[in-house]
Amino acid sequence: MDKISLNIEGIKNFVTNDEINSLIEIAEKSNLQLHDKTGTGNDFLGWVNLPFEIDKEELEDIKKTAAELSQTLDIMVVIGIGGSYLGAKAVIEALSNNFSSYANLSKEKLTVLYAGHNISEDYLFEIIDFLNDKNWGITVISKSGTTTEPAITFRMLKNELDKKYGKKSASNRIIAITDKEKGALRELAAKENYKTYNIADDIGGRFSVLTAVGLFPIALAGFDVDALIEGAKYYCKETKSEIKSDKNIAITYAIARNILYQKGYIIEVMANYNPKLHYFAEWWKQLFGESEGKDGKGIFPASVDFTTDLHSMGQYLQDGKRIIFETVISIENPSRTLAVPYDKGNLDGLNYLSGRRVHEINEMSEIGTMFAHIDGGVPNIKINLPEINEYYLGQLIYFFEKACGISAYMLGVNPFNQPGVENYKNNMFALLGKKGFEEETKKIKKRIGR
Ligand code: PA5
Repeated sequence: MDKISLNIEGIKNFVTNDEINSLIEIAEKSNLQLHDKTGTGNDFLGWVNLPFEIDKEELEDIKKTAAELSQTLDIMVVIGIGGSYLGAKAVIEALSNNFSSYANLSKEKLTVLYAGHNISEDYLFEIIDFLNDKNWGITVISKSGTTTEPAITFRMLKNELDKKYGKKSASNRIIAITDKEKGALRELAAKENYKTYNIADDIGGRFSVLTAVGLFPIALAGFDVDALIEGAKYYCKETKSEIKSDKNIAITYAIARNILYQKGYIIEVMANYNPKLHYFAEWWKQLFGESEGKDGKGIFPASVDFTTDLHSMGQYLQDGKRIIFETVISIENPSRTLAVPYDKGNLDGLNYLSGRRVHEINEMSEIGTMFAHIDGGVPNIKINLPEINEYYLGQLIYFFEKACGISAYMLGVNPFNQPGVENYKNNMFALLGKKGFEEETKKIKKRIGR
């Protein structure tokens, strides 16, 4: 089987080999710390060997339940936020037809919709309205079981489901994925008799795509979770601590981004040339942003869809402040074949392209952009994917998780906490008058003059 690969030649105009080599020791040590559990946040390392440790019985149950539900339901609403939905959405969008959600092309398949990742009244109203005459169910995912956005959304959608099907039948349409003991969702699930899957204590949200959190929605959407896990196993093996820097692409990527960061490139833009990867970049941004952005440090992860965004962000990338480097996900083979037709009149002057594949034109835009950006001062890292399928996505997921752990340790931060996420929540609770926030309520009301 082929594999994804990494090419850092495009950073060599910006950093010397000596600078790169100077980080090898700390990178290898950081990888070792993930394996021997001597780094910070070491009680959240359950993802490191996970591809080889997935509970076979649970996996079979996930596949069986997903297959049964996709026979009986047309729509499953996956309720979750951050790490509790982005991994599943990244994989499902990458593997789906671009238009299936508009044209309902996949009538034979269950459609996955998402909610609980915002508090927009319009979004909630419209999804409730849309579901009104549909045959649907809910998968609610929250490790803590107390996150406000999914909790409110679950209350509202469950209410609709109860009204439509009656409480008992509604309960059979609800799956809860949460902590095995703690949290409001666990209590509710036990009381209402929902089918449940557990999230392991030692796996945080953004590292949880290879648990039921990601696997169940991906299986529901009809995709091959075994192949995804096989892919993850490949880079789980190939990035182990005994695989040294020259052979270990997770280490190479972590070194490349850290040396660029040290030289003032503080923004990493992930670029794709296939819009199916749009949500993959959203998952990647959360993985790196929430893991590294702390203690006043961290590379800011951003993303663009090319060539679309060459006509909006292209100018800045080419010519703006030189603090950006680019990581391009390049797809060698698209799943479809389409060529430019010949036109007798040739009024658009495009006959020089007739008979050539759209992919070839896309590829030339990719190579042309890479050189233009390098020449303009944007270091380039390239990740090649032979094609978009479950196996290579599994490889990519594990590769990025591993690289993220290594990179964050190199930076000197704990990759597995997210203390900054609490601040907005505390203010929101104080403003809404939640019990226990009385002092904060007084202070913040004064600040807004109420
Ligand atoms: O990566 C993380 O830990 C977070 O993004 C969480 O996944 C997110 O905040 C949702 O948390 P929970 O699953 O507890 O509702």
